[in-house]
Amino acid sequence: MFLKKEIENIFFGIKIICSALILLIMLTLFFYMGFVDFNFNAFPIEETFEIKKKYDVNVLDESPKSKLVKYGFELFQNTSSYIGAGIDDSDKVFSGNNLTCSNCHLLAGTKPFSASLIGVVRRFPQYRGREHKLGTIQERINGCMERSMNGKMMTVDSYEMKALVSYLKWIGRDAPEDGKVFGQGFMEVKLPNRAVNLENGLMVYKAQCVLCHGSKGEGIKGLNNKAYEYPPLWGPDSYNNGAGMSRVITAAQFIKGNMPYGVTYESPILSDGDAYDVAGYINQQKRPIKINLELDFPDLNRKPVSTPYPPYADEFSLKQHQLGPFQPIIAYYKQKFNLIKKK
Ligand code: HEC
Ligand code: HEC
Repeated sequence: MFLKKEIENIFFGIKIICSALILLIMLTLFFYMGFVDFNFNAFPIEETFEIKKKYDVNVLDESPKSKLVKYGFELFQNTSSYIGAGIDDSDKVFSGNNLTCSNCHLLAGTKPFSASLIGVVRRFPQYRGREHKLGTIQERINGCMERSMNGKMMTVDSYEMKALVSYLKWIGRDAPEDGKVFGQGFMEVKLPNRAVNLENGLMVYKAQCVLCHGSKGEGIKGLNNKAYEYPPLWGPDSYNNGAGMSRVITAAQFIKGNMPYGVTYESPILSDGDAYDVAGYINQQKRPIKINLELDFPDLNRKPVSTPYPPYADEFSLKQHQLGPFQPIIAYYKQKFNLIKKK
């Protein structure tokens, strides 16, 4: 009786070991035959993901001009500590949230395809559809200040504005005359020919984003409890609904080439469809509302198709402008006005 039970146990053990061995052999075989694909290079090594020597402000001297550049860099990297909602000197409060410029323009504005700002000063003045006029670099910076930072305009002659422009000039010192450089804007994403799938967006969020950005998109603050280690994606301390990032197409492109943190345009992890869905999911959540948005785009034909707020120069619904499918809207403007729209 006793013996039989022991023999049974031994046989059971052997079975488990054999099954595990077979599974291991099969997995190894599949891996070599290419059925199972582990991407060991998904996270690029540290060296390719840091600010290049060429853009390190520490090489600069202590002249007033260099000091302005260095302060511009500081402002760009730690925006909320200098001009954020929580500082003591209320005259210096410009940004309405605690994001930093480099939360979206990664590696202090030098990372390719995260709206790299190398050469940007030379790309201005530039026609801007949102205002329907030629805009200056200062106006463009204020555009991000009022929307991405949910804040208020800095005057052109303020020390802060001068510092930011000086820093951006400095990182673009070797850019060509027209300011056009590799890595401007964002990676292209092939838009699925369907509306955003919010359920899949939530699934992608839970699998790939929640760890750093939190289940309520609230982000995670660092030790000093002021600046974010991981910035919020929605809620009261995020970008407002007038920001470029609040457009699904723009957000999908940013996410594809930059998130989860560590990916580059050379090593994206998300499929185009997943980037599109998670972008839609984020932008359907509550965020600060910008006033007077109806004044944007005096020439309504210039409004990007995924602008999430009305009015529009077409009959497509608000929902379709927020969540797609965008192909019919793009086709409409092509056919009616011969306008090629990409965002
Ligand atoms: C929430 C994300 C976000 C933050 C924060 C942000 N930006 Fe931007 N910025 C964008 C996006 C998105 C674009 C491109 C918009 C578009 O495609 O129309 C952009 C564009 C720009 C441009 C024009 C780039 C070009 O190639 O023409 C400048 C200059 C700029 N931002 C400066 C700043 C500065 C300075 C700050 C901090 C005060 C800042 N941004 C903060 C998202 C952000
Ligand atoms: C490992 C941590 C990590 C993960 C995972 C991650 N992020 Fe981020 N994310 C960051 C950090 C850090 C920044 C700011 C980058 C900087 O300042 O250099 C950021 C910035 C952003 C921004 C722009 C800034 C803002 O607050 O709006 C967006 C949008 C974003 N992430 C979306 C996503 C999405 C979507 C995913 C999932 C697909 C994701 N992130 C996964 C760490 C992460």
